[in-house]
Amino acid sequence: MNQSQLPRISIRGLSKRFGEKVILDGVDLDIMPGRSTTVIGMSGTGKSVLIKCILGILKPDAGEILVDGENWLTLTEHEHLARMRRIGMLFQGAALFDSLPVWENVSFALLRQGVDKKTAKQRAIEVLEWVGLHKIEDLMPSELSGGMAKRVGLARTICHKPDIVFLDEPTTGLDPIMSDVINRLILRLHKDSGTTILSITHDMKSAAMISDQIALLCHGRVHRQIPSDQLDSDQDPMLRQLVEGRAEGPINCSGWGKQMEEAIQR
Ligand SMILES: Nc1ncnc2c1ncn2[C@@H]1O[C@H](COP(=O)(O)OP(=O)(O)OP(=O)(O)O)[C@@H](O)[C@H]1O
Ligand SMILES: [Mg+2]
Repeated sequence: MNQSQLPRISIRGLSKRFGEKVILDGVDLDIMPGRSTTVIGMSGTGKSVLIKCILGILKPDAGEILVDGENWLTLTEHEHLARMRRIGMLFQGAALFDSLPVWENVSFALLRQGVDKKTAKQRAIEVLEWVGLHKIEDLMPSELSGGMAKRVGLARTICHKPDIVFLDEPTTGLDPIMSDVINRLILRLHKDSGTTILSITHDMKSAAMISDQIALLCHGRVHRQIPSDQLDSDQDPMLRQLVEGRAEGPINCSGWGKQMEEAIQR
């Protein structure tokens, strides 16, 4: 197997529980270099928990997270921080720092790496232009609309030229036109720079547009993984239920799903 065939990220048997509640129950997932993979799944299935485990924000109970063959779960804090320089992250809800102007938000990673303010601001302006935002570098986050904040978040994600990017719900809460703008930017990032991308969404249109591969997370595991062009034709019942947005179906067999079903029928 040559280097380009090795997964960039390989997740093996990843498990995470909060108290009695098992969220991830042996997740296996390979993400190939330069590919764009999207994890889909119902709200509350553990998609964000999965990304937080990869980023070291949450500590899994079991499993392995190999990035370029190195197990990130056994790294020291210092080693982990060094690896994070190559990572870009768009958090669900953009998560900008309210007290910092847009440009400092965007160039946050560069400033932390010791890049001087003038260079960092210049680079921030460059990536803001890339996401279609002009002359907003000195605004505060409170002065932005939701769509602008999302684009600023995306600019922050790529400002330090990461080679792996994680995107948690990049289009949630946006109107269809702004969602399309964001999807196109992600696609451009993927095609132009060959960045490896792991996204999370329950926006099926976005999943089909921005990814090569789609993995369905359900009941704590990757239940199915398919090329994105098979999203409309794949006949897996769980996948069909999610794609078609039906309350009834196999996904509702879990405990809280049943409660929800009863509530709907009441
Ligand atoms: N820090 C935490 N402490 C306790 N429970 C948590 C914590 N983080 C997440 N959970 C629980 O884990 C489950 C999965 O949460 P997660 O945020 O990963 O869902 P999700 O699939 O991203 O959902 P959504 O599509 O709504 O964003 C939820 O039941 C949530 O309450
Ligand atoms: Mg989430």
